[in-house]
Amino acid sequence: MDRVYVTRELPERLIDPLRQVTDVAMWDGDGPVPNDVLVSETSTADGLLCMITDAIGPSLLARASYLRVISQMAVGVDNIDTDECSRRGILVGHTPGVLTETVADSAFALLGAAARRLFEGEREVRSGKWGPWEPFHLTGGDLHNTTLGIVGMGRIGSAIARRAAGYEMRVLYSSPTSKDLPDADHVPLKVLLGESDHVVLSASLNVATRGLIGASELRLMRPTAYLVNVARGPLVNTADLIEALLSGRIAGAALDVTDPEPLPPDHPLLSLPNCLVVPHLGSASVRTRNAMAALAVENLIAGLEGWSMPAGFSTAG
Ligand code: DGY
Repeated sequence: MDRVYVTRELPERLIDPLRQVTDVAMWDGDGPVPNDVLVSETSTADGLLCMITDAIGPSLLARASYLRVISQMAVGVDNIDTDECSRRGILVGHTPGVLTETVADSAFALLGAAARRLFEGEREVRSGKWGPWEPFHLTGGDLHNTTLGIVGMGRIGSAIARRAAGYEMRVLYSSPTSKDLPDADHVPLKVLLGESDHVVLSASLNVATRGLIGASELRLMRPTAYLVNVARGPLVNTADLIEALLSGRIAGAALDVTDPEPLPPDHPLLSLPNCLVVPHLGSASVRTRNAMAALAVENLIAGLEGWSMPAGFSTAG
């Protein structure tokens, strides 16, 4: 029987199909599995079910002589050295599709919260500073009838664009290739940044997108614009973002992901009133996380059995 290692405790009802066909060991401690445990468990495993918090790099892979399949419970696989996996003939699976709509919902929730300054208002109420109504207190930006710039037009970007139509937004997008989207214009990133009232990042993290938004890009944005990141923290240069938020170069930001992640409680981003940070919750609905875990299990079983994975990751996209 193949031996698999699962790097986070998942509900038994979801793991059960895996137990039927493999010998399952599972990390059941608090938080991510420590790296030394991960390396040692993977060195005897045929399959690995892992999370974005697990670093799957060359040295771990070099010791994983039996490993044939890695199945990640996430769409992003930037924590996995996928080139090294393909050199070693290790299949990689991930969970696209099942989380698309939930992440797009999160993008709009964050955009609304940032642009309408809801978190600033909430903080005020909780701290006992809710005074009499004032004509221009905590006024922010609108969502409806504005221009939304979407950086990265994959499944999640398209789902965000569909929601934007309901807000009667004009949609611009930048992505390496133009898509067949009648209601969204493919434009260079610089044009998008200059013309958008709000910018949402939904691109995957890779060598081309790391540090995509830095000081010069933030300078192109409108001072009334809000930046939302539901992709990966390192798309944005954190020091440059702090500077842009502090100086009023942009109006605000709402971040589901940060660099570093998690942010230490004394991190400067957390002291900025115009920055909302939530702890990587983009896909965190009960239904979606269940679907992600179930798909990760299906991918792992399929890969180990020699069937085609329902959602295999390919560097070709
Ligand atoms: C992903 O799937 O890549 C998310 O960031 C985790 O939900």
